[in-house]
Parts: sequence; C-alpha cells; structure tokens
Amino acid sequence: MDKENEKKPPFNERRTFLKAVGISGAALLVGGLSGWRYFLPKSRDVPVASSYPTAILTDSSGNPIHASDIPVAGLSTTKYPLMVFNYPLQDEPNILLALNGVSIPGGVGPNSNIVAYSGICQHLACITPLLSYDPAQHIPFEAQLIGYTSANWPKYGLIYCKCHGSQYDPTKGVHNLYNNGPAPSPANHSLPQVVLHHDTVTDYLYAVGLNSESPVIRTHQFLPDGEIYGSQVESENMTGGTELPVFSESENIYKSIVVSSSNGPWPGNYY
Ligand code: FES
Repeated sequence: MDKENEKKPPFNERRTFLKAVGISGAALLVGGLSGWRYFLPKSRDVPVASSYPTAILTDSSGNPIHASDIPVAGLSTTKYPLMVFNYPLQDEPNILLALNGVSIPGGVGPNSNIVAYSGICQHLACITPLLSYDPAQHIPFEAQLIGYTSANWPKYGLIYCKCHGSQYDPTKGVHNLYNNGPAPSPANHSLPQVVLHHDTVTDYLYAVGLNSESPVIRTHQFLPDGEIYGSQVESENMTGGTELPVFSESENIYKSIVVSSSNGPWPGNYY
C-alpha cells in the first residue's frame, strides 16, 4: 500500500497492534525456527551436477528429439508452444525454449540459444502451465493487469507465473529473476536452470544436471509428504522421488519426454 495513503490507526490502537504483532512474532520465532529453513529458498553452496541423472530428451514415441527441431521464438513471436519435460525426477517439470538472435548463458546448440528452466515457480511452487513462457508479442492478461504494455514488456518476453506475477527473463541463464518479482520473498530467486548437453554429431539433447548457481528446486524445500528428497535439502540429495524411465540401461541414460502444447508439427520457427 502507498505509505502516503496508508490509514494509520490511532496511537493506542497502534500500540495494541504492535504489541500483538510482537507477541505473535515471538511465538512464530520460537515455534517456527526448525521449519523456517525449509521455507526460505536456499542457494546451493556446493556443485551437485555430478549427482544428477543423464536424460535424453525424446518425443512421445521415445525417439530422441533434435536440437534443430526445437521451435525458435524471436522478436515478432505472438504465440509459442509450451514444451515441458520432467527432470531430474518424474513430476518435476521444466520449460524448454529456444530464442532467435540471442546467445543465452548456459544455452546449447549452434547458436547457444536453447535453454531449459524449472517449470516450478520459486514463489509458491505453481507449475506449468500456470508458469509459462510468454513471448515477445504476447502479454498475458494477468501481466497487463499489473501494468505491462507493449511499451514495457521485455523484447524477448518473460517466463511469467499467472499465480501471483513472478517474472523470469529467459535470456539471462541462471540469473533470470526479472523485476524482483513482484510477488514477495521467497519469490526473489531465479528459476533453476537445467544443464543441457547438445551432441553435435547426433543433434540430440540431454539434460545432465542443474546449474550449480541455481537455487534449490522449489518443491525440494518442503517437509515432509514426499516432497523433500534426501536428508539435506541444500544439496538436493537425489535419493527418493520417482526416477525417470530408463532409455539405455547399458549406458545409464534415462529418458525425458518433451510434451508440447503445439498441435503443429516440429520443426517450426515462430519469429
Ligand atoms: S507461485 Fe508463482 S508467483 Fe506465486
């Protein structure tokens, strides 16, 4: 609320209010200390990529997809398919996208423009399709409500969360938080970035880890109910959860199916 227009309670009321806040706050502090660490998003302090599975990205028939088949969005894109794959475990969606004319930190492919980010919002864990990539020329209705117009919508669009308006810039790689929210903390963290590998011979794409500078995947922060995998959430111990299906047992490669909202065939450019 605008401080100028904020209606201030009378002095006595304010004292009572502050006292109540103080008591509640103290109670929360005492009662909540043990659980608080699981509420605040953590930044990793150790690289953990070596503990992640290697998963080849495939279509729904189990055939590997080619990097050159990924639809590419650009400055004129009005509509772009939502492409989602689970990683590092089942039920952990990530958004796959490619942008034209921009080299993205951590991006792969000949133009370093193919990236994948967690499809689990860092605020309160809304997932795709509530969290989705809205391209350059598509400002979602919810974003318009908080003031976005064609004049201030970023030129490559945003990964936008329709739950409470968190925003992430897909051109920035691991440091993708945009406009600091606007949903309040703990939303002020970037989406974890999936480490992709592009095989230049086969043109296949693999998910091989999560960027070590990323925050912890949002749903790895809760207790208990099966939503925390392993004993130390900070290190994202990968025990527990449901593994991805196996693609090649001998090569120890898992399979991650890319599901697309596009009815049209791949490949396709959208710019
Ligand atoms: S869950 Fe995404 S903004 Fe709140």
